[in-house]
Order: sequence, then C-alpha cells, then structure tokens
Amino acid sequence: MFIHRRRGWEIPESKVTPEAAALARRAVLGGAAAAGVLAASPAKAWKLFSGSGEAGPAADLKPINAPRNPKFEAGRALTDEKEATTYNNFYEFGLSKSIYESAAALKSDPWTIEIAGMVKTPRKIGIEDLLKQVSLEERIYRHRCVEAWAMTVPWTGFQLSDLVKLAEPLGSATYVQFTTLADPKTMPGLRQSWYPWPYTEGVTMAEAMNELAFLSVGIYGKTLPPQNGAPIRLNLPWKYGFKSAKSIIRVEFTDQRPVSFWQSLQDSEYGFWANVNPDVPHPRWSQAQERLIGTSAVAQTQIWNGYGPFVASLYTGLTKERLFA
Ligand code: MTE
Repeated sequence: MFIHRRRGWEIPESKVTPEAAALARRAVLGGAAAAGVLAASPAKAWKLFSGSGEAGPAADLKPINAPRNPKFEAGRALTDEKEATTYNNFYEFGLSKSIYESAAALKSDPWTIEIAGMVKTPRKIGIEDLLKQVSLEERIYRHRCVEAWAMTVPWTGFQLSDLVKLAEPLGSATYVQFTTLADPKTMPGLRQSWYPWPYTEGVTMAEAMNELAFLSVGIYGKTLPPQNGAPIRLNLPWKYGFKSAKSIIRVEFTDQRPVSFWQSLQDSEYGFWANVNPDVPHPRWSQAQERLIGTSAVAQTQIWNGYGPFVASLYTGLTKERLFA
C-alpha cells in the first residue's frame, strides 16, 4: 500500500487531516478541589438534562453554572468557542472537521448509560440520575489531537473516578472500556462499513481513577453541543484526543485490555496508551509541535501534554509498553 511520507512538521494540516480519510483509504486497500469551590448543586445539574426530548441545534444549549476549579488552568488563552464547536472530529457524522451541522441530528435526550461487566450490579442509569449523584465543576484543559492541532477548552463535568465509585467494580477489574453511540438513522458515517463501529476506547483502572480523567457534560458554560459529544464524553488531557470518546452509552469494567476503534484500524499508529510525547513522532508526521486552532500560533508540545505531575507516576515500571504512540 502506498503511504506518502513527509518530514515531520513540514506536513501541512491538509495532509494530516482528516486522519480518518487516510485510514479509510488504507482499510479499503488492505482490507480544588477545595470542597467549597466545587459545590455545584447536583440538583441543578441534572435538571439541565430534563429537557424537551429532542436534541437541538446549538441555540438550544442550556447554561451550566458550575464553579471553575482553579487547580486546572491551561497556561494559555482559551480557544475561541466558535472554533472549538465548529472544528471537530466525530467520524460517525463524517470525515471532515465541519460536521457540526449534521451532528445536530444526534438525539441526546433521553440518554442512558449501561454500567456493565465486572461490577457488583450491572445496570443502566439515566443521565439525570447519574448527575444527581455527582457535583459539576469547570476545568480548563489543553486538548491535543494526534493530528498535531490543539485547543484550550473549558469543560464542565465530573471526575471519571466518581462514576467508577458509583459503578462498584469488582477488585479483579483492571480496565474500563467506553462504547459510544452508533445510530445508523442519525449518523451517516456509519455507512462507512469498513470502520469498526461502534467507536470504543479504553483505559486502565489506575488511569480511570486519576484525578485528571474527566467526564464532560458541558463546554464554555453550556451543555455540550452534539458535535462535541453530547450529552457526555470523556476528556483525558494527557493523551491524544482520540482517547476522549464522545457520546458514551456504555462503560464496561473488565480484566482484558480493550482494543479501541483506532487501534483495531491501525495499531502501529494508534496504540492503547496514546500518551502525548513530542519526541515520539507519529509514523507519518512529527508530534514536536501543535497548531493552536483559531490562531496562527504554533506551540511546542509537552510530554504528557504538560500534565506529568498528575500522571507520569502511573507509568513507572511499564518499560515494555508502547506508552506514547
Ligand atoms: N468520539 C467518537 N464517538 N467519535 C469520534 O470520531 N473522535 C476523537 C474524539 N472522540 C471521536 C470521538 C478524536 S480523533 C478527537 S481529536 C476528539 O474526539 C475531538 O474532540 P472535539 O471535536 O470535541 O475537539
């Protein structure tokens, strides 16, 4: 199979993206937490989701008044909201970055999440019920795509560890797998049958319990728009963005390492760990720098996307693992 190789950062954005298109081609060819600061009212939070019954366009987004956690500042300017909500990867709606209009078809209300696998009691939980049991906060995270673009985004949500605790996993569970919505009626991308739908992702239990691992239900102080993964998506800011699964419908606890959507497409380029590292290039381009969306700026990429103090210790001793690609 023909893969055109260029030298690292010289690769223009147009050649890097959409990454999905490159892989599709190949698939065809080859077969504070200071308690006071964070006291958002859970009741208020869940009411946001007791809506009209129809997911709507951006204009229908509801404000979320969750306090900002000052522990998570990104050290650079926020990406313009319009950029972050109109330049997206959500392959279920198409390969381009401009899927925000077609994503308006996503029906995110009502929404149920299945808690499955190695847990005390497998069950389904409505998002309103879930949000009654957590407190929302806002965090500004750096968001780094494997395609070498980056954003700085204020997400509203709660720690993934809160969901893990509610799920009561068995002691033998070592991984968490996320499955996302695959609805052929509303998602035209699913017609591309060579992709291993549904989109799935996975992390270790230790990663899931890390305080950075976040489940977002909002962005820029409003409920998530469909294109950003309504009504609930993952954010793992020390990993490449493809690990941050959107529109999650199932969370499974397992003792088997999950094989994700991208890994099953091309494991040599998109491995299980996918931690950000400027010194480990993608096989087809450099990861040393990142283009800040909505600006003409290019920033130096940082190892762990700059979140080493939070996460580096998770990986000590894993010398045989391919942690960065
Ligand atoms: N989740 C689903 N279900 N489908 C996707 O195509 N794309 C991933 C991730 N989550 C994706 C997904 C990729 S490649 C990236 S970079 C981020 O979502 C993009 O998130 P954003 O559009 O909110 O910036």
